[in-house]
Amino acid sequence: MEKRRILPPEETEAQKKHIAWMRANNDCYLAENGCRRGAFVLTFGCQQNEADSEKLAGLCEEMGYAIVDEPADAELIVVNTCAIREHAEQKALSIVGQYKHLKTKNPALIIAVCGCMMAQEHRRNDIKFRYPYVDFILGPSSLHRFPQLLCEKLEKGRRLYCPEEAEYLVAEGLPIRRESNYRAWVSIMYGCNNFCSYCIVPYVRGRERSREMGEIVKEVRDLVAHGYRDITLLGQNVNSYAKDSDYGYDFADLLAELDTIEGDYVLRFMTSHPKDASRKLIDVMAESKHIAHQFHLPMQSGSDAILKAMNRRYDTEKYLGIVDYMRERMPDVTLTSDIIVGFPGETEVDFEGTLAMLRRVRFDMLYSFIYSPRKGTPAAEMEQVPQTVKNARFDRLLALQNEIGKEKNQALVGRTLRVLCDGVSKNNDALYSGRTEGNKIAFFEGAPNDTGCFVDFVAERADAYALYGKKI
Ligand code: 5AD
Ligand code: SF4
Repeated sequence: MEKRRILPPEETEAQKKHIAWMRANNDCYLAENGCRRGAFVLTFGCQQNEADSEKLAGLCEEMGYAIVDEPADAELIVVNTCAIREHAEQKALSIVGQYKHLKTKNPALIIAVCGCMMAQEHRRNDIKFRYPYVDFILGPSSLHRFPQLLCEKLEKGRRLYCPEEAEYLVAEGLPIRRESNYRAWVSIMYGCNNFCSYCIVPYVRGRERSREMGEIVKEVRDLVAHGYRDITLLGQNVNSYAKDSDYGYDFADLLAELDTIEGDYVLRFMTSHPKDASRKLIDVMAESKHIAHQFHLPMQSGSDAILKAMNRRYDTEKYLGIVDYMRERMPDVTLTSDIIVGFPGETEVDFEGTLAMLRRVRFDMLYSFIYSPRKGTPAAEMEQVPQTVKNARFDRLLALQNEIGKEKNQALVGRTLRVLCDGVSKNNDALYSGRTEGNKIAFFEGAPNDTGCFVDFVAERADAYALYGKKI
């Protein structure tokens, strides 16, 4: 058992000196120009990255920047990258490429690239050699050093490549600029110890380290007191929470404790690993007041041979045991999953196994991915499935899930559901949208003051992706 992996408070204190220096510098600019310098933060990837970006934006604000919505209005651009699949990496590189003209127009512009891609040597070299106008780079382990790097860049003028920290630690006390005033992310643990053979995460985000329960309770209590209605606990392996430490409690204990916080809010969590989806955890959810009956439980494949090659440490029987117990304790549970198609060595029979599991489990929704080889992971060295086969399997998987998802959603027609309203829909401005307790999208005719509030909604029709109905 490892001990606590918390960044010494002196380290966070040291950053405050840099924050104060930057603040003074930006206040001078404000006095001279009548406006604040702008900072633009762009995020790729998962919710963990979105949560990190809220910290980067919080740091920018503390340093005296105003957060802006357009890169062209910024004097500081931060690109928070993702390395999970090739597509995400290419998108980030392409955007960084597009910022070159902004730098030409405004040589004072500072561009920083951070996030998971910057923990990989070959990607750091890409930035170093192919994007010479990027001012500094830092990986996820050194996010707390952002103020220091910015100051050093301004003082010394030369490009900076922050090395990864010797040990990845939890940094408490960083400011957070939340995107929403009613939905919040709360990171409770970082990193991953599992080394699934396809996954880059353990290499770029380091070993598991968990925050102390007291810090998390304080944060959630504060959010509820400020009117937050939907709080998602985040971790790459959220239900392995505290297994890395000598805290003496586990994820189920944390949930039980958080559930005692009084207020009108829903608590959810992601992403879970089946190896830690214990009965104790499911029991706490079933008996709780605030924890959503929603579970995102990545299955990845429905073939035992592929699960073994993926190093997932469960088989289909174990997975089904969890699902059955979950449905026994929470018959209304919404179940979603991640599936990878075309993992190296996946045969037609293996893929049929995945389809069979979809028919047996009947997930409410799936996040499906075509396998993308990640440099440095074991699966990248295995014999690959041809792209045409991967694409065809992906289409078959989607077609089956569309049928199942539609049927699952249609079963909710006529039911009254509590929906947290997100305001006017981005896709259809005649309708409002929101999320049910199961995190399904609901469309209805709403009113401006519904935004950020729970409304009672009756579903009148449904497709595979959403429910349509009216507010009552
Ligand atoms: N290729 C495709 N999908 C991947 N995922 C992780 N690594 C890869 C990869 N190399 C998927 C998994 C994981 C989700 C976040 O991304 O399904 O659960
Ligand atoms: Fe990646 Fe597996 Fe860790 Fe999830 S559990 S982050 S898929 S290595």
